[in-house]
Amino acid sequence: MNKTMEERSVSTMSDNNVHVINHPLVQHKLTIMRKTDTSTKEFRDLLREISMLMGYELMRDLPTEGVKIETPLETMEGQQLAGKKLCLISILRAGNGFIDGLLDLVPSARVGHVGLYRDPETLIPVEYYMKVPEDLGNRQVVVVDPMLATGNSAIAAVDRIKDHDAVDIKFLCLIACPEGIKAFQEAHPDVPIYTAAIDRQLNEHGYILPGIGDAGDRIFGTK
Ligand code: URA
Repeated sequence: MNKTMEERSVSTMSDNNVHVINHPLVQHKLTIMRKTDTSTKEFRDLLREISMLMGYELMRDLPTEGVKIETPLETMEGQQLAGKKLCLISILRAGNGFIDGLLDLVPSARVGHVGLYRDPETLIPVEYYMKVPEDLGNRQVVVVDPMLATGNSAIAAVDRIKDHDAVDIKFLCLIACPEGIKAFQEAHPDVPIYTAAIDRQLNEHGYILPGIGDAGDRIFGTK
């Protein structure tokens, strides 16, 4: 179904702290990424491009401050980013696919990593790696993972990040599903979700339908 001009004119639809970035370029790139026959290289390139477009929307409210500069003709007050550098935190391993595109936008951002695996008996996420800047409390933190599926890893990662004093957190994913959004918002109602799509449902193996398959495998070509 074709989108009307009116539907296209709003690049982000926001409801209940969930922001769907429905810009035509984001939607076009996502459609190519979903296709089974899209190659690993193409997928990776598109993820880098889409993360820039999504990051651009997500970073709309970054604080700025006035700074006096000299143009070749006169003195003026320009705007520059203010405050401590942003911190991007990747949930390993698929979150890494978002980092390069976001760093293209904010090259001096700090980058943290959280690694979690699911204990096969208890199904509880267990942390195996965590490295983040010390002063998260003073930074805007953007946690990235392409798929918000069950929500378990995103919830556990944000729990750990809050343990490190972060208060200003946003969650960025490519595709979410109603089950993951519900679980995440119950655990972290203060953390807005930014996504390119809300897909229909989770399947019994924890994959999002229609989705893109295993995001890590598609980024790294491991299948
Ligand atoms: N993780 C993925 O990589 N894909 C899904 O569909 C769900 C979780």
